[in-house]
Amino acid sequence: GGARLWGGRFAGGPAEALARLSVSVQFDWRLAPYDLAASRAHARVLARAGLFTNDELGRTLAALDDLEAACAAGLFRPTVEDEDVHTALERGLLERLGALGGKLRAGRSRNDQVATDLRLYLRDRARGIAARLVELADALVEQAERHLDTPAPGMTHLQHAQPVTFGHQLLAHVHPLLRDLDRLRDWDARAAVCPLGSGALAGSSLPLDPVRVARELGFASAAPNSIDAVSDRDFVAEFLFAAAMTGVHLSRLGEEVVLWTSQEFGWVELDDSFATGSSIMPQKKNADIAELARGKSGRLIGALVTVLTMLKGLPLAYDRDMQEDKEPAFDAVDTLDVVLPALAGMISTMTVRVDRLAAAAPVGYTLATEVADWLVRRGVPFREAHDATGQLVALCASRDCRLSEVSDDDLRAISPHLEPEVREVLSVRSALAARTTPGSTGPKAVADQWGDVADKLTDW
Ligand code: ARG
Repeated sequence: GGARLWGGRFAGGPAEALARLSVSVQFDWRLAPYDLAASRAHARVLARAGLFTNDELGRTLAALDDLEAACAAGLFRPTVEDEDVHTALERGLLERLGALGGKLRAGRSRNDQVATDLRLYLRDRARGIAARLVELADALVEQAERHLDTPAPGMTHLQHAQPVTFGHQLLAHVHPLLRDLDRLRDWDARAAVCPLGSGALAGSSLPLDPVRVARELGFASAAPNSIDAVSDRDFVAEFLFAAAMTGVHLSRLGEEVVLWTSQEFGWVELDDSFATGSSIMPQKKNADIAELARGKSGRLIGALVTVLTMLKGLPLAYDRDMQEDKEPAFDAVDTLDVVLPALAGMISTMTVRVDRLAAAAPVGYTLATEVADWLVRRGVPFREAHDATGQLVALCASRDCRLSEVSDDDLRAISPHLEPEVREVLSVRSALAARTTPGSTGPKAVADQWGDVADKLTDW
């Protein structure tokens, strides 16, 4: 381990078992571009502080550029000897600059470095996730536009409840995604604080300029407390909450698609390119994307719990436990990066079976509420209206007929208020058309909602 960053006071190298436990470069190597960006800002600050000559600054910046290109091309790779990304990159500088490569470490610690790198990384990748979220929301919005007035059964407890428009149901999956987008934006504002300059925990005796560094790296401000700066992983936990919440939304959407594509529902047909088959049953067409979206929400929730549990007992400031923040954070990013595009493709290419939806919409006496509301408009207290309608449903169920198929005499026998005109409300179309209040499922209200949602999405 020739390139270790801390060998001076130690008699020998670390035990093999320690090195194997301690090494993080196999996963934190993806922070390299961010670590290099922070190194550039730090080099300039050291030069302004008079600690680097202009020539030294120029050579250091050139070496950082060269190292970055070598990393990107895969020509510079971490070795098993490199404890972490910071160690590996310092080795790269030493290879290029000799002793000068060891000057950049002045005034900084891996503690403020790694906290800075991880903020830069997550802020960057969160923008990509937001773009993928918009694409999924767009796919739902496009499907919704085709079904603003397509009748469908609305469900509670997975039982037929009241007719809805299918566009309304699809848009109901867009609003959670809009909240996820808001959450990421709110999160970013809190994550935009730069720890660099906090050193190990106490700041620096060198004349650094944390405010300038923060600005150069795209942060809104420099950390106001050096101890907090290296201790704080709220930005990781909060990012992981946002990711887990998104995971739950995707899981619920996935579960609905699994139901919708089942033989029993048959509401939706997936495009062949977004469905999978079976190795033994030639007829199978499965919604694996939807199931993986549902299944992978587990690891997103797990990542949040991992980080909160790791943090809860830690004294300030930095503890090595905190190295365990990275794999869950990276896994959450990677998971959303693969789930979101697959879901977006599946949704935008699926075919909605309007005939099946329309036929299912009135099944299960979903128009019973229309009868009760009709009685209410005639002055009958809802309690009585509910009871009379319940008797009507029971009668129909015993005869296996529709609500509208009961004779005038049978209606009157249930309640003197149940006059033949009640049949006017007993169609899915009229039930939907009657729902005009903002946010409700009638075609007119849904068209308004669709416009608002589409506007919001174009702002993202
Ligand atoms: N690999 C470490 C991490 O990810 C970097 C910071 C190490 N700091 C230290 N004092 N050992 O947290």
